[in-house]
Amino acid sequence: MALVRLDKFLANAGIGTRSQVRDYIKYRRVWVDGKPCIKADTKIDKDKNEVTFDKRIVSYDEFVYVILNKPKGVISATEDENETTVLDLLEDKYKKMKLFPVGRLDKDTVGLLILSNDGRFAHNTLSPKKHIEKSYYAHINGEITKEHIEKFKEGIVISGGYKCLPAKLSIEYSAENFSKVNITIKEGKYHQIKRMFEALGRKVVYLKRISFDDIVLDESLQEGEYRLANDEEMKIIEKFIEK
Ligand code: URA
Repeated sequence: MALVRLDKFLANAGIGTRSQVRDYIKYRRVWVDGKPCIKADTKIDKDKNEVTFDKRIVSYDEFVYVILNKPKGVISATEDENETTVLDLLEDKYKKMKLFPVGRLDKDTVGLLILSNDGRFAHNTLSPKKHIEKSYYAHINGEITKEHIEKFKEGIVISGGYKCLPAKLSIEYSAENFSKVNITIKEGKYHQIKRMFEALGRKVVYLKRISFDDIVLDESLQEGEYRLANDEEMKIIEKFIEK
């Protein structure tokens, strides 16, 4: 990202006018990376430098998009009395930003989950009419055949009688008792993939989300690790914000 002068950074973050923030800088109320910074023209990289005003972190971006590789055993919620939530995984500085998971992965599902505080992004990607593609990798407890691929194409009727939109299924490996498959769906019904395989008499024993639209899971993130969306991912995210 482009570097920005410290006084501009503070003014844009709503700390005060340019002349006010210059005073704050002069009186050592502004610190950069743990040290007082008294030069208003210091160049700040918002992704790398931590700026504080009166010891409180200054958040430059109104909206934040966190790319998480969700681990097993964590729920896609903002708070819960008994369970660890995806927000519990984040550093304190994100806790004040009112982030929420954009969509939901089951407690035992791992993989790509975006956390944000941008309601427009959530609305424009999650609304059932948007048909955003989400891809998963799964292990199944039995054989998966070409007939199953056809059933996915036609639209599987899941428990409760709902007929899913046509979905893509591809087989990486299949034997009598175990298969590895990839699935792409365009909607997000509760436990959808598990219910789709259940309707075929199979059970999902491992599920990992690989992509959300064109954002692909960063395999360098270990489960439980996260980072802010990079420039490439921001371009994809911006497509949904501008709509
Ligand atoms: N489908 C499921 O069954 N579970 C998930 O977590 C996501 C999609």
